[in-house]
Amino acid sequence: PAAGLIDGHGRAITYLRISVTDRCDLRCRYCMAEKMTFLPRSALMSLEEIALIAERFIARGITKIRLSGGEPLVRRDVVDLVRRLGRHVSTHPAGLDELTMTTNATRLNEFAGPLADAGIRRINVSLDTLDPDRFRFITRTGDLGRVLAGIEAARAAGIAVKINMVALKGLNDDAFPAMLAWCGERGLDLTLIETMPMGDIDEDRTDRFVPLGAVFDTLADQFTLTRDAHRSGGPARYWNVGEYGTRLGLISPLTGNFCDSCNRVRLTTEGHLYSCLGHDDRVDLKAAIRSGGLGAVDAAIDAALLAKPARHDFDIAASAPAVGRHMSVTGG
Ligand code: GTP
Ligand code: 5AD
Ligand code: SF4
Repeated sequence: PAAGLIDGHGRAITYLRISVTDRCDLRCRYCMAEKMTFLPRSALMSLEEIALIAERFIARGITKIRLSGGEPLVRRDVVDLVRRLGRHVSTHPAGLDELTMTTNATRLNEFAGPLADAGIRRINVSLDTLDPDRFRFITRTGDLGRVLAGIEAARAAGIAVKINMVALKGLNDDAFPAMLAWCGERGLDLTLIETMPMGDIDEDRTDRFVPLGAVFDTLADQFTLTRDAHRSGGPARYWNVGEYGTRLGLISPLTGNFCDSCNRVRLTTEGHLYSCLGHDDRVDLKAAIRSGGLGAVDAAIDAALLAKPARHDFDIAASAPAVGRHMSVTGG
């Protein structure tokens, strides 16, 4: 088998995140501006091109793929891509350990069954509040009932659901214990996330930023939390929640940098491979595959890994976001 992908800092790269669209049916305030300009369809890679590049990554040692967006389920035919990549999920060398998705759940009522059939066993759902009015405010357009129904549909289809909650001062920072209990009662893991400065939104992120250390202390007063060695291959540190047998994850890019153990790169729907969430460094795999085929793709991947930055330098207090693009371009 191939030696696998190693970056210029000696880190093994085993996790590919693919943003299949920059579009979304919601407009979460910490993620997007109210008015967004999305990529023209002519700029996007075809699903065939995405699949070919993903398969090249699998052949070179990627073992986990996450489809994200924007909202992945707004891309037509995304289930075809899931089905195709799902065929690579196996316990054999040179296969995928996991194919998964991050979604806002608004379309899961329709898609949970097809996704389960296509090979998805686990998804992460973005859900920042259980209050319908606050949900509408945070997402600007969303309907909480639809999202809750989507989560139920996923569970009914046998898909394990983990909830992602971005911590936001004044919007949900009074609701962490309630969310942990709600998740626990349903057997769902919960991950709390510090908001990261990416792209211009119409608000000041500094005003909304909540460091997760103090949040953890509050939760530890109310729940029995013990450190869990579980590794999802993602950036979260996990605790076991004794009351429910579920997990609590913390993603603290601002207060607890985890870049030393970074194992991932990101492919955008435009075909750009970003080697770090917090930098603009990228190579153009769409141009590579169109002009030079898989050999050119390999060379571009090698160049991107060699130049992968050691760490992000997100600074929540800085006057401008660390990178100009929005989270939805690279799918988080
Ligand atoms: P699991 O497989 O469940 O561990 O998922 P994950 O955390 O890898 O993916 P998810 O799409 O649920 O992302 C959760 C949050 O982690 C999002 O806010 C992402 O932007 C953030 N995130 C993922 N990878 C990185 C990273 O390399 N650096 C930083 N700073 N944030 C990341
Ligand atoms: N900071 C942190 N997390 C974010 N997400 C979107 N924008 C941001 C941001 N600026 C989250 C979404 C989703 C995940 C992919 O990233 O809520 O759960
Ligand atoms: Fe859409 Fe996710 Fe961004 Fe919300 S956080 S606007 S659901 S891409």
